[in-house]
Amino acid sequence: MLPTPVNTPTHASRVAPADAVALRINHLSKRYGERLAVNDLTLEVKRGEIVGFLGPNGAGKTTTIRMCLGLIAPTSGSVEILGREVAQHGIAGASLLARVGALVEQPALYPYMTGRDNLRAIGFPLGSASEARIDTVLDEVGLRGRDHDRVKTYSLGMKQRLGVAMALLQDPDLVILDEPANGLDPAGIVEMRDLLRRLVAANKAIFLSSHVLGEVQQICTRVAIINHGRLITESSVEALTTAHGEYAVTVDRPQEALALIHAQPWGHGARLDGDRQLVTPAPDGDSGALNRFLVTAGYTPTAITPYAQDLEAIFLRLTGE
Ligand SMILES: Nc1ncnc2c1ncn2[C@@H]1O[C@H](COP(=O)(O)OP(=O)(O)O)[C@@H](O)[C@H]1O
Ligand SMILES: [Mg+2]
Repeated sequence: MLPTPVNTPTHASRVAPADAVALRINHLSKRYGERLAVNDLTLEVKRGEIVGFLGPNGAGKTTTIRMCLGLIAPTSGSVEILGREVAQHGIAGASLLARVGALVEQPALYPYMTGRDNLRAIGFPLGSASEARIDTVLDEVGLRGRDHDRVKTYSLGMKQRLGVAMALLQDPDLVILDEPANGLDPAGIVEMRDLLRRLVAANKAIFLSSHVLGEVQQICTRVAIINHGRLITESSVEALTTAHGEYAVTVDRPQEALALIHAQPWGHGARLDGDRQLVTPAPDGDSGALNRFLVTAGYTPTAITPYAQDLEAIFLRLTGE
């Protein structure tokens, strides 16, 4: 049997299985004086996955991302990117630089240069990008046509998108974006979402932070929520928003129905949500049994659906703010 070639510098050697872990954060902590900005954080991002890193301002998102990129050293714990430990090599030292694209806080731009010249000016040790590649990323972020204007004439959102273009220039496998929706108007946020969806479809791994849940709820496969440096929860958006065993019931005379449900051994948690909707547990967690109970009691429910909470409300509850 022929030995498997190792590390052959072909395109094929860069293709990893879809579930390969691109970013592994392992018991990571960062202390500033008395304050633990990041506290024992453990998290993974696989290829083909967008993980939202969520938390209010000051939660520790940027500090975590800086450690992921080797920009600051962890107090303890480690980060692995594409199987290599960042703490040991830093991403600039290892061959990781071209495989990780990052935007941390505000992009560093030259205001008197054009958008295109800013992209040309990025001094990659691996050589600069081709004009064709620059065209591609300008298209991807929707700045084609404005690329010959000076950056100082750009809106905040355009600068942000140029920062994303810089992160994408080397066609990285892992994309780390710190609050990429900052400064984007609603249309810009939609464009950013479409862009991120295309990147994921191309089997990249994306780790992006936000303090506004609504921005990421629709695109993230998973979310990790942190507050005061600690991971509060990590789950799929679906699992987070679908409460356990509660149903939204549209029914006539909801006040009366609520009083009746409250009197049942399974119904203590029931409540009104809006004018015509009840949120309630079901007998034995069974929506059919809930329907039979209401009908038998003389009500006519027009809809019974699993109750999905607004992620923003969950976020506020989990972070207590
Ligand atoms: N260089 C630093 N020196 C001291 N404290 C810092 C430093 N950088 C961040 N912090 C503190 O660490 C905490 C987390 O900050 P940060 O990671 O920027 O939060 P986020 O990005 O989630 O808004 C904050 O309390 C912040 O004040
Ligand atoms: Mg931040």
